[in-house]
Amino acid sequence: MKKSVLSGMRPTGRLHLGHLLGALENWVELQEKYDCFFMVADWHALMSEYEKPSDIRQNSLEIVKDWIACGIDPDKSVVFVQSMVSEHLELAMVFSILTPLGWLERCTTYKEQMREIKGRMLATYGFLGYPVLQAADIALYGAHYVPVGVDQLPHLELAREIIRKFHKLYKKNIFEEPDPMLTKVSKLVGLDNRKMSKSYGNFIALSDSPYDVKRKVYSMYTDPKRVSADVPGTVDGNPVFIYHDLFNPNKKEVESLKERYRTGKVGDVEVKKKLTTALNDFLDPIRQKRDGLTDEYIHGVLVKGADKACAIAKETMSKVKECLHQIYR
Ligand code: TRP
Repeated sequence: MKKSVLSGMRPTGRLHLGHLLGALENWVELQEKYDCFFMVADWHALMSEYEKPSDIRQNSLEIVKDWIACGIDPDKSVVFVQSMVSEHLELAMVFSILTPLGWLERCTTYKEQMREIKGRMLATYGFLGYPVLQAADIALYGAHYVPVGVDQLPHLELAREIIRKFHKLYKKNIFEEPDPMLTKVSKLVGLDNRKMSKSYGNFIALSDSPYDVKRKVYSMYTDPKRVSADVPGTVDGNPVFIYHDLFNPNKKEVESLKERYRTGKVGDVEVKKKLTTALNDFLDPIRQKRDGLTDEYIHGVLVKGADKACAIAKETMSKVKECLHQIYR
C-alpha cells in the first residue's frame, strides 16, 4: 500500500512563482508515489481574515485553479476544501480537549504572527488553536508525510505530540505520527530584492497577464551601481539574473547576457526584455490551462474531493469516538 501525504495552503490570494518553486512543483511529483491529499485550509485563513471574509470563497476557487494548472490532478489526488468536511472541526475539538495551553502559548509561530501581523485582532481563542486544527487535518487521513516549509515545523512537532498524547491516554494507536517532508528551500527572491511577500506586492502571480509580467519585470531591482549601460554590473545575487537562471531555458543567451552585463556591454532594458519573454513562455501553458478552468468545474472537483475525503474522515471519527466511549451512528 502507498503511504499518504497531506498538505494544505490557506486561500489568502493568488499563488506566485515562489509558491510554484517552493511547494507546488514538489506536490506535483509526490502524486506519482503517494496517496496525496491537497487541502484548501479555509478555516485557517478565516482565523486571520474573519473580520472580512468576503474573499475566501473566490480565493479558494482560484487557488485550486492554480494547483490544477500547475499539474495537480484531481483524479490522482484528493483535492478538497477543509470546511466541506466537517470532521476537521470535530477532531480539532477532541484534540483541543487534551492539548495543554502551555504547548500552544509556547509555539513560536504563534508568537511571531502576533508580533508581525498588524491591524488584525488575533488574540482569539481560535487563533491560539491554529496548530490544533492543523494536527486534526493531518491525523484525520493518517498522513505519513506532510510537505511543509521550515516555518511550519513547530506545528508538525505539536501534531506529533498531540497524537502521542491521544494514543497514551486511550491506549490505542489509531493515528499515524506524521513526519515533515521538508521542501527543498527555494526561497525565490522578490522582484525588489526583498523577501517575496504578498504584503510587499513584489511577486509574479501564476495568473498574471503577459502585460503584468512585462510591467513587473521592467520595474525589477537590478544592480544600483549601474547608472548607465556601459558601467560594469554585478550578476551574482542580482534578481534579474536569478530569475534568468531559473526561468530562461536558453542557457547560451543567459551566459552571453551575464558576460555583457559584467563588462558593461548591455543595457538593463535588453536583459529585462529577454526575461519578460522567458517568463511569459514559461507561464503561457499554465495560463492556458488555467483559463480553461471555470468556477463551476472547480466546484465540481471540490464536491468530489470532499466526498472522497469524507469517507475516510468519517471512519477515523468512528475510531476516535470508540476510544472516547461516545455513542455514534
Ligand atoms: N498552516 C499551513 C500554512 O500556513 C496551512 C495548513 C493548514 C497545513 N493545515 C495544514 C499544511 C495541514 C500542512 C498540513 O502554510
